[in-house]
Amino acid sequence: MSNEFSPEVQKYIEKGEKILAHQEKRRQEMKKKKFDTIAVHGIYGVEEALEHQGSLLEPTFFTPAQQFADSNHLEAVNAYVMPGWAYTRIINPTITYLEETLALLEGYGYKGDTGAAAFSSGMAAIYMATNPFIENPEPGTNIVVDAKCYGGTFMLLSRYSRENGIEVRWVTDSANTEDWVQKVDDKTRFVYAEMPSNPGLSLVDLEAIAVLAHDHGIPLIVDSTLTTPALMRPIALGADIVVHSVSKAMAGSGSAIAGAIISKMDIPSKVGTDEMKADFATYIKLLSRRDHGNNIAPMNAHFVLNDLRHLRARVDKMSKSAMKIAEFLETHENVESVGYPGLKSNSGHNLAKKYMWLADGSDDYGQEVNRYGYMMSFNVKGGVEKAKQVFDQFKMIFRATDLGRVKSVATLPAVSTHQQQGDEGRELASLPSNLVRLSVGMEHPDDIIDDLKQALDSVK
Ligand SMILES: Cc1ncc(COP(=O)(O)O)c(C=O)c1O
Repeated sequence: MSNEFSPEVQKYIEKGEKILAHQEKRRQEMKKKKFDTIAVHGIYGVEEALEHQGSLLEPTFFTPAQQFADSNHLEAVNAYVMPGWAYTRIINPTITYLEETLALLEGYGYKGDTGAAAFSSGMAAIYMATNPFIENPEPGTNIVVDAKCYGGTFMLLSRYSRENGIEVRWVTDSANTEDWVQKVDDKTRFVYAEMPSNPGLSLVDLEAIAVLAHDHGIPLIVDSTLTTPALMRPIALGADIVVHSVSKAMAGSGSAIAGAIISKMDIPSKVGTDEMKADFATYIKLLSRRDHGNNIAPMNAHFVLNDLRHLRARVDKMSKSAMKIAEFLETHENVESVGYPGLKSNSGHNLAKKYMWLADGSDDYGQEVNRYGYMMSFNVKGGVEKAKQVFDQFKMIFRATDLGRVKSVATLPAVSTHQQQGDEGRELASLPSNLVRLSVGMEHPDDIIDDLKQALDSVK
């Protein structure tokens, strides 16, 4: 490719090769570090800091465009033969720092390489991760999807059926691998799971459905927003593409909406170019994202980088509190049932035990420990009106369609996040109207329990 360029442009290409080699060295150095070290540093180290006037934090480049030394430099960067960023809709150095950190965290414990692309929201990431696989459908072309997925995902993938002629085969019993096996055939383009699901907290046997997808030469796409890489990393378990609503625990202080795709190299697919299959995240980043224009804003990348640094500690603490709170809820007379993967009574508990582990063990890095996340749901006895009464009674817990925050937040999914998919869609997802979704924050768990107790006690 470089032969097509003039000797002046070639000089920039050679300069670029040195920059790429340095980045790769840094990536490989950081790949050997522990989870928390990667989360704190990403690929931005002491040497690079000196190139940025000693800034301890990755510099935030707000400006939309890069200045070039001359026309040859301009040509090399815009031909993607020399690293650079040209224009923030395509890439931007701050966004690259975030993407490199996400690729390393999600690839933690996985021997191969991973790549990442960040987006303006989780939904943008899900669209960009799935859309390449639905091109040129023929009669019978289908996708196989967890029916218990997030309401926005349900609406987006239903749109593929309405607007693109793709059959969406909803898996209603997602913990049962046989249900997935029955639905996948030689016209399936991808398998899509959410683990655990929002808001039902249902589990999927990821390793088994990865094998199923690969036997059919198609990718397994997993939304693991609720675990974050601190608790589970689907790529090491066999998934090809992971999507995140980074807006949630990864950006736990609640300053930004963001999304990400993280993928491994050489993914299987029946459609798409060899280039796409070889390095899906880079393909999406440099080509699809350039055209769709849904890149994350640099300021949001900066906020997310800062929250990622303590992701593991936050998720650990929030999960421990959530366990205590789920145990309390289970004993309350006005609670019909509790959905929390950590409870032995939960039908998916064994799958959660198999897959949900805190990276590098307990808080002193000692023992390997299961952690079951910060999200739970509970059904209030007496139906939707009673559930609304409890919800309206919260004094400290925020009422909002949000989760993963340092502040505890609750919602009623049937009238919020999953309202627009209608009764039929909610029935497919087994989502009752008396279900309260609770995202446990960083407050002392006893204070959260007090608030829940007074709200539940108030219902006669
Ligand atoms: C599991 C899951 N996936 C995807 C999304 C969509 O993410 P965003 O709101 O960042 O677009 C959400 C949002 O709640 C979610 O909970």
